[in-house]
Amino acid sequence: MSVEPLLEVTHLSKSFRVHGQTLQAVRDVSFTLAAGETLGLVGESGSGKSTLGRSLLWLLPPETGDVRFAGERLRTLSKQALRSRRKDMQIVFQDPVSALNPRANVFRNIEEPLLVHRMGTARERRQEVARLLSQVGLQEAHGLAYPFELSGGQQQRVMIARALALQPKLVVCDEMLSALDMSVQTQMMALLQQLQQEHHLAYVFISHNLSAVGYLSSHIAVMYLGKIVEYAPTEQLVASPVHPYTATLFQSILHIPESKAARSALTTLPGEIPSPVKVPMGCAFHTRCPHVQDVCRTQEPPSIQVAQGHFVACHLAKGDFA
Ligand SMILES: Nc1ncnc2c1ncn2[C@@H]1O[C@H](COP(=O)(O)OP(=O)(O)OP(=O)(O)O)[C@@H](O)[C@H]1O
Ligand SMILES: [Mg+2]
Repeated sequence: MSVEPLLEVTHLSKSFRVHGQTLQAVRDVSFTLAAGETLGLVGESGSGKSTLGRSLLWLLPPETGDVRFAGERLRTLSKQALRSRRKDMQIVFQDPVSALNPRANVFRNIEEPLLVHRMGTARERRQEVARLLSQVGLQEAHGLAYPFELSGGQQQRVMIARALALQPKLVVCDEMLSALDMSVQTQMMALLQQLQQEHHLAYVFISHNLSAVGYLSSHIAVMYLGKIVEYAPTEQLVASPVHPYTATLFQSILHIPESKAARSALTTLPGEIPSPVKVPMGCAFHTRCPHVQDVCRTQEPPSIQVAQGHFVACHLAKGDFA
């Protein structure tokens, strides 16, 4: 019996108008994510990860394509219905300082989504905030502090508590570890895992830190110029990457000590990522691919299955998996 996925994204595309030109930030992206699982989203800066993260929560409605969340097509929901569904879909960003209200203490910051959705009495909310603080490893006394009085790691814990206040089913984590030092990143990764187990949370985990993505994700999607060029279960993708782009990305974490890997992984490709205003014809990666052939310059490669659950968009991939 097949279980319906929590999140089903089909043919999602999102572009922006920039100086009279069309910038294709996300192009024809499809994937599914089950409850309680983590999809890691990786790719160079500008590849469309954040745009995809926001589009799939309908914070940035895509022009074409669909998102089904718990079986509901977000496109068909009224503004009001969407607002109430947002309880189930949260996002945590890199920079907690800009996301938190600096004039309110931690307690009030965490309570705010409960107030907005008119949940509980004042007393119930107080208890709930205390419970959330303890869940993310903070003490009740932290509730009285103001965001600027906390360390970066503590601020990010407040953001997580705030995101969890409405008991979501899905949390998009967009570079949420990037501003933290390595030891705090490790603590946060453990916290994310613990919360996932306790609440059966699904995550879309966006990061340049490939070690963290590998550690947390059940599946990984690799983006290049707005497209998912490879998607597979994590172990499979790390052990047997097929797309030349993925191979370059993950090669670096195999050969460089862990802490350095994340920082250097995305800088080892020759040349610059082309402009999404002028996406190259054929395979968008052909201008940088060491294995480029004539067909790559003219025809866009379809996504084919090369092993169980492993999809690749590359003309050189062998799709004889039955
Ligand atoms: N609001 C916007 N208006 C115009 N262009 C945008 C907007 N948001 C994003 N873009 C463009 O869309 C493309 C994808 O951006 P996005 O932020 O999704 O990439 P990213 O993969 O998250 O990058 P990074 O790793 O640096 O966070 C980029 O070319 C970016 O300049
Ligand atoms: Mg981003």
